[in-house]
Amino acid sequence: MEKKWWKESVVYQIYPRSFCDSNGDGIGDIKGITSKLDYLKELGIDVIWLSPVYQSPNDDNGYDISDYQAIMKEFGTMEDFDEMLAAAHDRGIKLVMDLVVNHTSDEHRWFIESRKSVENPYRDYYIWRPAKDGKEPNNWGSCFSGSAWEYDPETEMYYLHLFSKKQPDLNWDNPKVREEVYEMMNWWLDKGVDGFRMDVISLISKKPDLPDGVPGINGYASFNEPANGPHVHEYLREMREKVLNRADTITVGECSGVTLEEAKKYADSDGSELNMVFQFEHMDVDADGTNKWSDKKMDLRDLKEVLTRWQKGLENIAWNSLFWENHDQPRSVSRFGNDGKYRETSAKMLATCLYLMQGTPYIYQGQELGMTNVPFERIEDFRDLDSINAYHELTGQGVFSKEEMLRYLRYKSRDNARTPFQWSDEEHAGFTTGTPWIMVNPNYKEINAREQMSREDSVFHYFQKLIRLRKEQEIIVYGTYELLWPESREIYAYTRTLGEKQLLVICNFTADQVPFKVPEEFLQGEILIQNFRDAAVNENMTLRPYEAIVLMR
Ligand code: NOJ
Repeated sequence: MEKKWWKESVVYQIYPRSFCDSNGDGIGDIKGITSKLDYLKELGIDVIWLSPVYQSPNDDNGYDISDYQAIMKEFGTMEDFDEMLAAAHDRGIKLVMDLVVNHTSDEHRWFIESRKSVENPYRDYYIWRPAKDGKEPNNWGSCFSGSAWEYDPETEMYYLHLFSKKQPDLNWDNPKVREEVYEMMNWWLDKGVDGFRMDVISLISKKPDLPDGVPGINGYASFNEPANGPHVHEYLREMREKVLNRADTITVGECSGVTLEEAKKYADSDGSELNMVFQFEHMDVDADGTNKWSDKKMDLRDLKEVLTRWQKGLENIAWNSLFWENHDQPRSVSRFGNDGKYRETSAKMLATCLYLMQGTPYIYQGQELGMTNVPFERIEDFRDLDSINAYHELTGQGVFSKEEMLRYLRYKSRDNARTPFQWSDEEHAGFTTGTPWIMVNPNYKEINAREQMSREDSVFHYFQKLIRLRKEQEIIVYGTYELLWPESREIYAYTRTLGEKQLLVICNFTADQVPFKVPEEFLQGEILIQNFRDAAVNENMTLRPYEAIVLMR
């Protein structure tokens, strides 16, 4: 298998709004990030993925961009950005920008022009259609509730927005749009950024006839309907030639609706498109069918089936990304682990289970502290438009009661990941001296970076050790994966193999004691890492709640 630096790297995602506020306005900013680079260096990560910092009216916290070459005022200036980039590079840390080009903000100058008239030179930058039988052109839903079409009285036509109505979809079939995007990407590469995380890149190519899809619980077809459209690979290959090949970049495509077969094309190791994709099948194991709003717990066997299929399916063909969390997902320790008595043990177990697989690890800010979901009480506590819109739509339609929906939001809302990073036990968790834009998780007095860094057996130090191990042991990066004991509902166990060497990863996903028979060939193995201080390996072991052990032979 070909060795690449981006296979050996660990990526850390920063959600700037909630990371560190340097000027007391309650909103995280770029200077705040720069002030914390030494913290990230100490953790040991190699690459930062920065969620959007561009100029934006913030309908969707920066994922609605009104100028791709300007910095959002709340976050600082272009000088602050350049300073941060140089300071990261000084520390040997690379920087990946979030590229949001499936759509722009409706306040982007292209859209302001586009909506003016059907003759406007920018008209065809977006996707406009006349009404069909006096209604929307098809039954597609927006990711954030309601129809994906908005009627614009100016020209009496509808425009497509797979996300909010302030995020009109760009028309990638227009070569001028593609040229503008490539030019902008090259401008950032010239500045010295190291790569791109590409927002919903699987959605950029729509089928020309925009066919109806199967309706979901709110009556609309999924926003994923256009996923993996007819020209997506052609456009990414063009982007590879016109932009990405100019530098030694790291690229990851956020590919909602991607299948394993499609992923092989997006992330083909021939290097013709992207280095890797984010797939979401393992984020759907606790969904209720196609509906994410539930508090159903996953069946571990489903998780194993999905992750194993991706591990085996991409082996020697493409490359995986490994993530439990990002700014769109709740906290993993509350979702797949235990955020009560076993919070730290289960946070370490989850990290062991995932980050010893084959692929590039992504850590989301606060995950390395074992940050948890948030006890939001009322709908007014939420800031995320996805959560707020879904609450009103589904309670309004009588699909869920208000209490039910609040319960689901508490479990699944994106805001669980978006509360301020917990730096210390000082006021507002040391995130700001002002009033934070969203509530701080009240558990910051116990869970914070200062406390975690002061204690040898903390989650932080465990992550640090896992990251170090990846640098020391090639097998963690390049070894092949084999699942053991697929039918167990309690234990996730697998091996990794490289040449003569083998690793055995054993993880207990429950709060119970569970027996585990260690394969004979590992009985004399060395313990590489474990989340209990005193694990003793023998043939018939009893794993303790959320125990994780990695053996090497
Ligand atoms: C995916 C992003 O991760 C999410 O935060 C955003 O709301 C949508 N794409 C729209 O850009």
